[in-house]
Amino acid sequence: MISKSTIDQVYETARLEEVIGDFVQLKKSGSNFKGLSPFSDERTPSFMVSPVKQIWKDFSSGKGGNVVAFLMEHEHFTYPEAIKYLAKKYNIEVEETERTDEQKQEADERESMYLVSEFAQGYFSQMLWESELGKAIGLTYFKERGFTDETIKKFSLGYCLDQWDGFTTAALDKGYKLNYLEKTGLTIVRKDDKNPNNPKKFDRFKARVMFPIHSMSGRVLGFGGRILTNNKKAAKYLNSPESSIYHKSKVLYGIYFAKQAIAKEDNCYLVEGYTDVIQMYQRGIHNVVSSSGTALTPEQIRLINRLTKNITVLFDGDAAGLRASLRGIDLILEQGMNVKVCTFPEGEDPDSFAKNNELDAIVQYLQQNSKDFIQFKASLLVEEAANDPIKRADTVRDIVHSISKIPDRIKKEIYIQECAQIMNISEAVLFNTLAQIGKKDLADASKRVKPEQKAFDVVKNEPLPEKVDVQYELERKIIELLLLYGNELEQFEDLVLKENKDGDLILEPESLESKVYEKIYLDLQDDEIELTNPHFKTIYYKLIEDLNHKEDFTINTFIADLDQEMVAEISSILMEEEKYMLHNWESKDIYPKEKKIGVSQLVSETILTLRCYLIKRRMETLQHSTEESTGDNSETLEEIMNYLQLNQLLNKKLNRVLS
Ligand code: CTP
Ligand code: MN
Repeated sequence: MISKSTIDQVYETARLEEVIGDFVQLKKSGSNFKGLSPFSDERTPSFMVSPVKQIWKDFSSGKGGNVVAFLMEHEHFTYPEAIKYLAKKYNIEVEETERTDEQKQEADERESMYLVSEFAQGYFSQMLWESELGKAIGLTYFKERGFTDETIKKFSLGYCLDQWDGFTTAALDKGYKLNYLEKTGLTIVRKDDKNPNNPKKFDRFKARVMFPIHSMSGRVLGFGGRILTNNKKAAKYLNSPESSIYHKSKVLYGIYFAKQAIAKEDNCYLVEGYTDVIQMYQRGIHNVVSSSGTALTPEQIRLINRLTKNITVLFDGDAAGLRASLRGIDLILEQGMNVKVCTFPEGEDPDSFAKNNELDAIVQYLQQNSKDFIQFKASLLVEEAANDPIKRADTVRDIVHSISKIPDRIKKEIYIQECAQIMNISEAVLFNTLAQIGKKDLADASKRVKPEQKAFDVVKNEPLPEKVDVQYELERKIIELLLLYGNELEQFEDLVLKENKDGDLILEPESLESKVYEKIYLDLQDDEIELTNPHFKTIYYKLIEDLNHKEDFTINTFIADLDQEMVAEISSILMEEEKYMLHNWESKDIYPKEKKIGVSQLVSETILTLRCYLIKRRMETLQHSTEESTGDNSETLEEIMNYLQLNQLLNKKLNRVLS
């Protein structure tokens, strides 16, 4: 267990914008930062970070929370993992209260898998640098490929000895559980019928040089292992199997080392393999990642999209795979990214090219040979189809298909114009084809509709205006007011019934000073109003308690003790108003700035509106019951009359507040 004082220190020190800034490119926007949502595909930023409130909100996915919630969402950390990560970032010493064996066992499965992987990485490195065979075979191999000591250490490369279970035995000796060795795929476990209590165990990566695969934040998720012999039967590269910590489609090899450079250069080079990444990096081109031999997935593109809009795909010299790869690039266009491609001379790949040329020459080559993807594809296809009219028609469709994937309409039009020139064809033909493809996509989309879904839902793309739930909104507002101003001392004006000189009852304004939270609490208690939304209710009572007991109430410390679901709710409440900032609506005066009216007025207005609303609802219910019953209604009618009076009174108060 991590001690409370460490946790407190972490919360006090960590700056949300700095932590998130390591993963998302943030731009200043008023008093906030905004950026592209790391949780969904999007082209316009809807991800907001408030340095003042130390809270973030992702308007496209609805997620939000504090610094720990971000790490849990984004890195899939557990709570202690997130705290430890922050402690490391801010050089805070983690104080652990002693763990019992039982607690150790309970430690979350994923964390155990991370730990096993981290151990494996260390072990493989140690074998590479320290064992005789590792040095003779593994290290020699890397040196032959041209990797320097520094590079080998940077990428934590390693070697798995040519033994059946050398690694597995070492891990078990260190106390790592076979279960996790198996779950991470590092060990292959075979049941042995003759000996059911002692299954056979094999090292998956036996006799391979090892490439650890890191997450964006630098944790080891899995491995790629390259065989060193020319064994035709064995795969050249073997990778960790899918597991709860390693999802092949969601990682990019090298992203941890490249992320800063990608953001800084505002471009990402995409290569095919591990060695391409390492060789380019060693030469000084750091903004490079690899999809590890497979077509890019949307999740991988999203990883890049957070850091830059620009991607340059580097193709090996052999033209064979080129055409097939072109299709995959449409996926990148779909995500609104600008794609360039660069091919290498016959027989070269980024690895060999980087190895054989100096940095200057490589940079120059990349500059001169990177072509806009659409133009590149158009010229390539035109060449191929030069004297074949049928092929030419296919080509036109193919190109326009790519263009149709670009979300930006203006960009689309520019491309149509350019391609018309390259392909020597009229723009009108291309626009026509584009329109046809658009229709077909729509038709396909409606065919894909799940049976239980009505086609109507898909075709109709205008969202229905959402019904406003008044009570929900008001309860939410109350929480917001408590969070923001709970501890503030305010002058409240109220109308109280008083007897005048003639003995008549009249409403007199009376001023009283009170803390915002006291006013809210007492007023709601007066009417015995309970918040109906369970989240709000939980937060409400906790807030009242904290405000009542803690002199130095701050949102930050309040949140630190809440569970993540509540934290998310709070951040969504506090960040709601910031949403308008995303579109700069505020500057266009579309939304009134409510904060200009006083806090006390806002509080009174909210409480009174809620009371009026509840009374109205109560009266409606009573009315219904009188309409439906045939018996004596006098009692109910009296109740309604009472409510009517109260309603009038409240309305008077409300009018006063509003005027
Ligand atoms: N790959 C893989 N499994 C294979 C072959 C390839 O996962 N059986 C992935 C690896 O990530 C590899 C990439 O595809 O880095 C590119 O494959 P290839 O071009 O064959 O490998 P190179 O990186 O060129 O490897 P090397 O230079 O070591 O031969
Ligand atoms: Mn290669």
